[in-house]
Amino acid sequence: MDNRPIGLLDSGVGGFSIVKKVINKLPNESTIFIGDSANMPYGNKSQEQIIELTRRSVKFLLSKNVKLIIFACNTATAAAMPTLQKEVDQQIIGVIQSGSLAAARTTMNKKVAVVATPVTINSHAYQKEIQFRNPEIEVSEVAAPELAPLIEAQKDFDTNLKAVKDSLQPLKGKNFDTLVLGCTHYPIIRDEFAQALGEKIQIVDPADQVAQYTYNVMRRDGLFNDSNEVSHEYYTTGDPEKFSEMGRAFLGDENLISKQVDTEN
Ligand code: SIN
Repeated sequence: MDNRPIGLLDSGVGGFSIVKKVINKLPNESTIFIGDSANMPYGNKSQEQIIELTRRSVKFLLSKNVKLIIFACNTATAAAMPTLQKEVDQQIIGVIQSGSLAAARTTMNKKVAVVATPVTINSHAYQKEIQFRNPEIEVSEVAAPELAPLIEAQKDFDTNLKAVKDSLQPLKGKNFDTLVLGCTHYPIIRDEFAQALGEKIQIVDPADQVAQYTYNVMRRDGLFNDSNEVSHEYYTTGDPEKFSEMGRAFLGDENLISKQVDTEN
């Protein structure tokens, strides 16, 4: 048994989509989530920059004595997870392996599309992971550099819908039946994706599988919290009011409050 909290990090508010699923799946666990909104988007940065920024959030979470860390960010998973896993003892769980497993299980016609940030797409991490599970699956990838910043800016439905439609344009004619939301910001505008895609296309949100995988790891390693004390803490390097507002809306928790932290020092 291990009563320490689970740590989660993201470049910004997208991690709330993973926090929500983790809290639902593991209601007796405490969580600490940090969103590096002051430095988002990660998706257009160099690998060195992403490693350094992610390292700061990892350091912050370790200072809070977390028992394991979830990279609730596809870009950090693709660019920084292999390096940082070598630097810390705690197990790190990424989103790409889980999302790929879900996609390989979901597609019927063996055609999957992935929409993500340029860093994630250029790493071809989803393509490799999906085809590792089933080499027959054709994977079409599209980079959407403007979507995560747009979501962070909290625009209206129609603005988001137009941006989603524009971003998915290069996938026209690819005949995929499954679309992976390869950035944890995207589930926040899942309705806009659903409207843009129509009913025939299945949307895969890696968060479901991440929560299940985290549960499995904790059961295997005896990491469950056996106390009755559960708490959830939220931190951001950006504007705490904006961050809290998104958290309240997405998690449905009116009392959610986030604190501002400086992870640079
Ligand atoms: C970003 O910061 O560009 C998006 C984060 C993600 O890939 O989940």
